[in-house]
Amino acid sequence: MTYSLTTPLYYVNAKPHLGSVYTTLACDALARFQRLEGEQVVFITGVDEHGQKIQRTAEGQSISPQDHCDRISALYTDQWDRWDISNDRFVRTTSDRHLPLVQDFFKRCEAAGHIRTGHQEGWYCVDCEEFKDDPADAESPDCPIHRKPLEWRDEENLFFCLSQFQERIEALIADPEFIAPTSRRREIENFVAGGLRDFSISRVNVSWGLPVPGHSGHTFYVWFDALLGYLTALLDDGGPVDLDRLAAVGWPASVHVIGKDILRFHAVYWPAMLMSAGLPVPKRVFGHGFLTREGQKMGKALGNVLDPDTLLERCGADAVRWYLLKDIQFGEDGDFQQQRFMDLVNNDLANTIGNLLNRTASMSRKWFNGSLPSISDNVKADHPLKKSTERTINQVRQSIPSLTFQNAAEAVLQLAIEANGYLNEQAPWSLMKQPGHEQKVGDDLYAVLDCCRVIGLLLQPLVPGLSSRILAQLNLHPCDGCWNSALSWGQLEPGGNLPKPEPVMQRLELESPL
Ligand code: MSP
Repeated sequence: MTYSLTTPLYYVNAKPHLGSVYTTLACDALARFQRLEGEQVVFITGVDEHGQKIQRTAEGQSISPQDHCDRISALYTDQWDRWDISNDRFVRTTSDRHLPLVQDFFKRCEAAGHIRTGHQEGWYCVDCEEFKDDPADAESPDCPIHRKPLEWRDEENLFFCLSQFQERIEALIADPEFIAPTSRRREIENFVAGGLRDFSISRVNVSWGLPVPGHSGHTFYVWFDALLGYLTALLDDGGPVDLDRLAAVGWPASVHVIGKDILRFHAVYWPAMLMSAGLPVPKRVFGHGFLTREGQKMGKALGNVLDPDTLLERCGADAVRWYLLKDIQFGEDGDFQQQRFMDLVNNDLANTIGNLLNRTASMSRKWFNGSLPSISDNVKADHPLKKSTERTINQVRQSIPSLTFQNAAEAVLQLAIEANGYLNEQAPWSLMKQPGHEQKVGDDLYAVLDCCRVIGLLLQPLVPGLSSRILAQLNLHPCDGCWNSALSWGQLEPGGNLPKPEPVMQRLELESPL
């Protein structure tokens, strides 16, 4: 079975921002986890390149839309390289493979009787690429999200007959597995309960879009084309662009991870489009929350945008990943706070986890000829840290598939806290001074170092750089396939050489604001 997961396909109106980095890091953790669990993973990300927003951005810079898209798309691939994102595909909606797929998909919907022509009038937000219902100020309304004036549209378009899918969408969203977290379901239930209305899927005034076959002058509405990018990405495995191949390449998606603002498109419009084309719907749509910074919405106007490049250069990927995944409940809104970021990274990673490994490895080297001590069989079989380790392994394995990264990170940290507590209680540094306690000291150090090994392994999906530095201190490598055989208590080889201890996590000392 293939585990396929997607980030949204990001608009190329501007360079990547913290919101896109946030979603992509979370998906990366999930993808890495599923690979370690032995799944065949297809991790998809990419860019959404058509529509009026992009067309206008390019015009504003006096370059062609394609040149603009090429430039921003390259910034995305470069960004993901630098964050060491493990995506398997990067799809562009301007790619040659995408057009035939979109046209083929449309023809299926048309043949199924779900496309009609119609008149569309209403207030449109170009930044959202969406019609807005009932704006508060009917005279000169603004977009409630972008705070920019809405534009009046009045045109003949092609419509997708969403109204014909009312019962089927109701049944779909009633499945508790489909929309996650559950807190997001209510909003969609209300929307659907209000009655589904047909939505326009073509534009007559937007040249920067894919042509609708058989309807000259019409280009596809950007969302119709963008959602189909997920399918183009899956079919980009060297084989033909053929919708009938989808089941063999990982469709339906195991999960679409998106921001809460685009849940409606993914949980209502998209499944209906797929049903119309006779294709299965995604298994799950996860809508995460929005990030603010020090309590304020981030925006160019406020001058408080947190630049991912600065974050990466000054703090490193592991620190950012740990903070975002551990401090913010994925699914709820979260606030980026610099002091809290530093405290968390320094306390959890540098002090609790880093020092545990460092001091234990140093003692082992000093007292056991530079190598790992052995543990007596009876002590190993019944060690108090054995239970804790096994519990932590289970917690991580249960949390990450449901995207509760916070619980997974907390569980790993708790194991380190317990191991530190154990070490302090046993005080091998005192025992070592008394004759005849060498085996007991060896048992203790072995047990704690084996916890460090498991911590290193469990951190692999969350903070891969730190994970490999921890494992290297134990003369081990990250798992390069399934972690099943390594993920159990007491697998360290006694007697193995221990390299010279080095700090595995630099402390974050940010004197100026990021
Ligand atoms: N192009 C569409 C998606 C099409 S998917 C077939 C789009 N792109 S986007 O670039 O505007 O947004 C991508 C994602 O970034 C959205 O899921 C959005 O929720 C997320 N974020 C934008 N700002 C954000 C924060 N401040 N915090 C967290 N995520 C945010 O929508």
